[in-house]
Amino acid sequence: MVEDMIKLAKEAASRAYAPYSGFKVGAVLVAKSGNIYTGCNVENSSYGLTICAERTALFKAISEGDREFEHLIIYNDSEKVFYPCGACRQTLVEFSPEMKITIVNNDEMVEKKLSELLPEHFKI
Ligand code: THU
Repeated sequence: MVEDMIKLAKEAASRAYAPYSGFKVGAVLVAKSGNIYTGCNVENSSYGLTICAERTALFKAISEGDREFEHLIIYNDSEKVFYPCGACRQTLVEFSPEMKITIVNNDEMVEKKLSELLPEHFKI
């Protein structure tokens, strides 16, 4: 199961549009419904308009009607562990603070809970 998700995340990373950073990220978001959403980062020549892979997947999911998530798998083709940016953590925590996050690169796999990565998060 996780192996299948990692494969999907790698495929999503291969579709990233990252001509400026060269840093291609793939994300797979598993909803509690069982639906699966993939995402990649999409950069722009006006750099600040770039969207991360995690939020691409999340916005696809929300727009399709899913709001509760079990698991996010993220992949980058490197040997260094990277963690999701603050904007993605805050955007994801709005929906499922307890979701599992698996961060994968070519050497290792790290498992976290979103609540560990963003404790004491902002919520109205
Ligand atoms: N990026 C992601 O897609 N996810 C992250 O968690 C961190 C950063 C993207 C944004 C940009 O296209 C590139 O990686 C370099 O920052």
